[in-house]
Amino acid sequence: MFMAPPLDGIPRDIAAVADYAVYARRRLDDNAWAYLDGAAGDELTRAWNRAAFDRQALLPRVMADVVGGHCQATLFGREYPCPILLAPVAWQKLFQPDGELATAYTAAALGVGMILSTLASSSLEEVAAAARQGGDGPRWFQLYLQPERDLNEDLIRRAEAAGYEAIVFTVDAPLNGIRNREQRAGFQLPPGIEAVNLRRPQDPDDRQGFALRERSLAEKRKRRGPSNVFDDLMHCAPTWKDLDWLLAATRLPVIVKGILHPDDALRAVDMGAAGIVVSNHGGRTLDTLPASLDALPAIADRLLGRVPILLDGGIQRGSDIFKAIALGASAVLIGRPYIHALAATGPLGVAHVIRLLHDELEATMALCGVARLEQISTAYLYDNPNRRTEP
Ligand code: FNR
Ligand code: LAC
Repeated sequence: MFMAPPLDGIPRDIAAVADYAVYARRRLDDNAWAYLDGAAGDELTRAWNRAAFDRQALLPRVMADVVGGHCQATLFGREYPCPILLAPVAWQKLFQPDGELATAYTAAALGVGMILSTLASSSLEEVAAAARQGGDGPRWFQLYLQPERDLNEDLIRRAEAAGYEAIVFTVDAPLNGIRNREQRAGFQLPPGIEAVNLRRPQDPDDRQGFALRERSLAEKRKRRGPSNVFDDLMHCAPTWKDLDWLLAATRLPVIVKGILHPDDALRAVDMGAAGIVVSNHGGRTLDTLPASLDALPAIADRLLGRVPILLDGGIQRGSDIFKAIALGASAVLIGRPYIHALAATGPLGVAHVIRLLHDELEATMALCGVARLEQISTAYLYDNPNRRTEP
């Protein structure tokens, strides 16, 4: 398993997850690249996400007996081969012709969890069918609250019926953020790529789908004041009341994504959230938010293990996953890394990225003297400025 030989179809000079970015850049046009790789404003948060992992050193314990160790994780009552899930990423046909179908097939074949975006470019039923072909691995559905309640209900019912096992409620992106890189590149969705799941249920032949709905909604909303943000966009932004509604509207566990403040984490869990994702949306919404790793310890201290905490933003190495777990996460999500691989070499690349992270995580555990995820703690972090305070 460890130090596996190079895979057929994977360029020989790809040895680490970050190597895929170079290939993806060559494959994608400026439009798709600006959307995928870019972030908000000066992209400081995006850089800090990485820097937070890089400035955290490990402190190994030698000569521990770790034979028989593994990195399997249990989340919401299900076994996962490793604590890695594929983050929701919109419009994956921008990056590879099969888009989400390729991702779902690969994730399912490996038994790795995939979170499908509301803004997927394939229908959630087609994605579920691709996952079933791959081996029927765990899949979750990410919900962006839609202004019309019946559309939200419809999405939830469809996700439940198609075998999605959890709803990930993203609350940190009621508006897209100031994405200067996208603006400079003049980013636009190419024709034929759209958020097909947002077509009106009673109107399945609506070829214009999302774009048309957006326009008619904007007309319907009618500006109630002078501000683009407060008098228009924020009418559709999720509130705590909506979380309450969602918790009652589905039998599936609800995981709230995009939390950085311990009080928000506690409030969500007190209301009934089954888990949270500590995330700054990969730095794509508001620039100069803290690195998600830096926000994690205070949240872990507040939640005291009541629910699983997931984390995303900047993960590129198995050792990053180890550090996130040491600071209180149960598992992590990866975003851009698997999309880089999808763009570079398709499904095989996605499988390879997961394999690389899995093997690096096992190597990190073994070299630190840890045989199971539950044993990972701040005791294995060197001079950690974020050391969790003991209760
Ligand atoms: C995202 N992300 C995202 N999140 C979400 O909840 N719904 C979505 O539709 C999307 N779409 C999306 C598109 C693209 C191109 C990217 C890069 C990201 C955010 C994503 O789920 C995750 O939080 C970050 O990508 C994690 O950071 P890294 O791993 O990309 O550094
Ligand atoms: C993004 C939105 C779709 O990050 O979540 O691009």
